[in-house]
Amino acid sequence: MKRSFVPGIIDVTRVSDADEIRKLVEDQRLDRKFDSRWPLLNAVFLRRVLQALSFGGHRFPTLRAREDDERAGNQSALWNQLNRRAAALNAANPDVGSLAQWVVGSGSDEELGILTQQAIGRLFVETYTSDSESWKAARLLASAPQAKGLSKFSPRFRRKVVRAKELLAAKVNGDLAGVHGTGVAIHNVVKGFHRMRQLYRDITVRKQASADAIVAECLSAPAMVLRQATENGSAPGCPYRKGAIFLLELAAAQTKANAMDMVFLERAWSRCPADRWVPALFQSVWKSANIGNP
Ligand code: HEM
Repeated sequence: MKRSFVPGIIDVTRVSDADEIRKLVEDQRLDRKFDSRWPLLNAVFLRRVLQALSFGGHRFPTLRAREDDERAGNQSALWNQLNRRAAALNAANPDVGSLAQWVVGSGSDEELGILTQQAIGRLFVETYTSDSESWKAARLLASAPQAKGLSKFSPRFRRKVVRAKELLAAKVNGDLAGVHGTGVAIHNVVKGFHRMRQLYRDITVRKQASADAIVAECLSAPAMVLRQATENGSAPGCPYRKGAIFLLELAAAQTKANAMDMVFLERAWSRCPADRWVPALFQSVWKSANIGNP
């Protein structure tokens, strides 16, 4: 753990150890309520993230509190729905076929972004179609919470982010899990397909690795997730105060042995509803890519 602490100014702890993250996500006093606006720089940081990842006055599901019943209900309904979709995935699925063609071929990054967005969007609206504009909106949205320098304060940049969210939201009938999936989470899925193409091009790997091993190679955790202390407390070796922000650096933690649970946090209350669908998609695409190309 690495804490930046100046009383009244900043209280942020970065955590990149998988065991420490597992304990912190279980801690009832660390939540996603984000209602404490103190110390000063914590408030500035939170305002920026919440502004970027909210739409129509509502926060994206990844920024909603543990005890928010509506969030929890949506999470489990989406998990059930995506598991049904995962079970039905196979080489006959058109999205699987197009993604497999991208893996074996030489299509561009943009083509991959569009195909991936379409596959995710169709989980929410069967007729979802993606294009350059909606893929551009996803790239802009992902960059918004991390925008650096003066650009983050520019009204022009903010208007562009609002327009990006409007476009993505309209395509999924305003479902914010859909906006998160097609605008934010999509980037980890895209990263997985880039890795899959590299693996496919290595003839030894292609012949010898199991589909499960390929899927594990292609799964990567989000860079980080956020929590804030709702009261004073203490984690092993780390007393904390109300308002303290924790940046749980899942991607860094995943690089250590036995830390695949960092990818979807599937043992935590906040677990990803796509924790089975994404691996099933990777598996179907890999198998489809190898049909006829052994
Ligand atoms: C490789 C791809 C993905 C990874 C690595 C991933 C990872 C995660 C993680 C770690 C969380 C927990 C966040 C937290 O604890 O604060 C999460 C939450 C969530 N993810 Fe994913 N995700 C992926 C893809 C998706 C997709 C495709 C969708 C939509 C179809 C999705 C929808 C959600 C939602 C709605 C939540 C919030 C759950 C809640 O707390 O109610 N994710 N995801």
